[in-house]
Amino acid sequence: MTPPTREAKTMSETAASPGTAPAPDGAAEFAGRNVVVTGGGTGIGRAAALEFARRGAAAVIITGRRKERLAEVAAEHAAIVAVPADVTTEDGAQAVIEELRSHGERLDVLVHNAGIYRQTPVADPNMAYAREMLETNVLGPVLLTARLLPLMTSPGGSIVFVSSVAGHNPEPYASMYAVTKAGAHSLTLTMAKELANRGIRVNAVAPSAVRTEVYDANGLTTEQIDGLFRGFAAANPLGRTGVVEDVAPWIARFASPESSWITGQILVIDGGADLTAAADSPYSPYRGDSRGSDWGS
Ligand SMILES: NC(=O)c1ccc[n+]([C@@H]2O[C@H](COP(=O)([O-])OP(=O)(O)OC[C@H]3O[C@@H](n4cnc5c(N)ncnc54)[C@H](OP(=O)(O)O)[C@@H]3O)[C@@H](O)[C@H]2O)c1
Repeated sequence: MTPPTREAKTMSETAASPGTAPAPDGAAEFAGRNVVVTGGGTGIGRAAALEFARRGAAAVIITGRRKERLAEVAAEHAAIVAVPADVTTEDGAQAVIEELRSHGERLDVLVHNAGIYRQTPVADPNMAYAREMLETNVLGPVLLTARLLPLMTSPGGSIVFVSSVAGHNPEPYASMYAVTKAGAHSLTLTMAKELANRGIRVNAVAPSAVRTEVYDANGLTTEQIDGLFRGFAAANPLGRTGVVEDVAPWIARFASPESSWITGQILVIDGGADLTAAADSPYSPYRGDSRGSDWGS
């Protein structure tokens, strides 16, 4: 089989090229750059859109299905443009392309943030929920990436997934959500390799518990979600759960020209929660009890 032809890009034309160099002193980090944030009407997506706008992006196009939520965020900053669009559909992708036409047909940053979280037990799976999560969290980004790639700055474009710690550390009753986030991890790595020869970087942030509307869809009352979050906070090494402002700056940092030699990375943002995932060994030479001497034997 003939190997696929690598696009003929020299090192100087790819990630380190002058076109992708950090902004000169005093210039806004994302000046002249266009950004798309899916699911930008609420939560982490809203915070990310505001972050890009504050860092000087020319246009930040936010998508989602609820027009009124998008309009509220667009009203917060002149650079933010609301485009009602379902991430799972061709029409949704087309709406984003149409909007980009009035912004110089140029896309610099694509943030795959839109996502849904539904619990569905292994012993009694809800296949409609499973399909909805796969469509939204995995196939949506696949479709949108393909449709927007022709407009992406090359070299210099950047894609950021909003994945989850569930992608590598799944929780019971959320197996299909975990599958979709493991899928987002995998897409991050594969796309990073596949798009490197175009000088397009692909990274992901993987947050754990951040209080947003994503938790509202599983039939829990506000009091139950409050209790859940108290539990998360109590178990967290840094003693609290996340807020959207813990995540948004890292999305922007991955997309920043200053990260021009970073690709294929998944950054866990969780206050150290991952550290507690494996049970601590009861044995240590520093423990000071009789079991300590068993270490390593
Ligand atoms: N909050 C957490 O603890 C946490 C932890 C790890 C990862 N995450 C991930 O972070 C991302 C953002 O979630 P969030 O926590 O900020 O919750 P959120 O406020 O519920 O945000 C999800 C956004 O996705 C949009 N969306 C859902 N389906 C869509 C579709 N078919 N087309 C277009 N937009 C769609 C929603 O808007 P519409 O409903 O109006 O379409 C909403 O604005 C998700 O991918 C989530 O899995 C969250």
